[in-house]
Amino acid sequence: MKLFIDTANLEEIKTAVSYGVLDGVTTNPTLLSREKNEPVSQLKKICKIVNGPVSAEVTALDSEGMVKEAKELAKIASNIVIKIPSTVDGLMAVKELASLGIKTNLTLCFSASQALLVAKAGAVYVSPFVGRLDDISSEGIALVSDIKLIYSNYGISTQIIVASVRHPRHFVEAARLGADIATVPFSVIAKLMRHPLTDIGIKRFMDDWEKLKRGLGK
Ligand code: G3P
Repeated sequence: MKLFIDTANLEEIKTAVSYGVLDGVTTNPTLLSREKNEPVSQLKKICKIVNGPVSAEVTALDSEGMVKEAKELAKIASNIVIKIPSTVDGLMAVKELASLGIKTNLTLCFSASQALLVAKAGAVYVSPFVGRLDDISSEGIALVSDIKLIYSNYGISTQIIVASVRHPRHFVEAARLGADIATVPFSVIAKLMRHPLTDIGIKRFMDDWEKLKRGLGK
């Protein structure tokens, strides 16, 4: 499973890149608004740091406006992917953008029917938001399982990006289901390699090593 980072913060992205396991970035208007920088210039900087797809979201709500905005965003860099909301206008925009060779990531996906239709329209990626479904007492990961089954029934190549990831369990469940990608906030990436038994084990090894050295008089 590929790992994307869900942020528009340059420091977080650079740190995740330095770990050597980052495959891409997803942003959205909320994440860009936190950076207090002009969004296009921020996206340009992100695209230079990351060797992989960088999702940038349109803010127009009508298909014509989405296509217009997408064409502009696509000029930022060759690794830009256009995030489009999973609506009827979004479907129409995706169809047109696909015919122009512009890659899309259909965001705010909360149902299997949305996921099937966006794939038919030509979406390269679909982003089911698991955390936000959990927030309303639905089961986010069950949606990923449904989409995976439906896509495999019809040999659909649209890639599933598990989004709105809130904790390591979401990440592991996404991988168990065979999702193509999980997009994970930095705070959760930081937890993925943490384990108390690893820390305890390191401490014990270090203590024993020191004891050995003291015993040898070094
Ligand atoms: O990738 C989508 C993500 O940014 C939404 O996450 O935590 O705002 O639901 P959240």
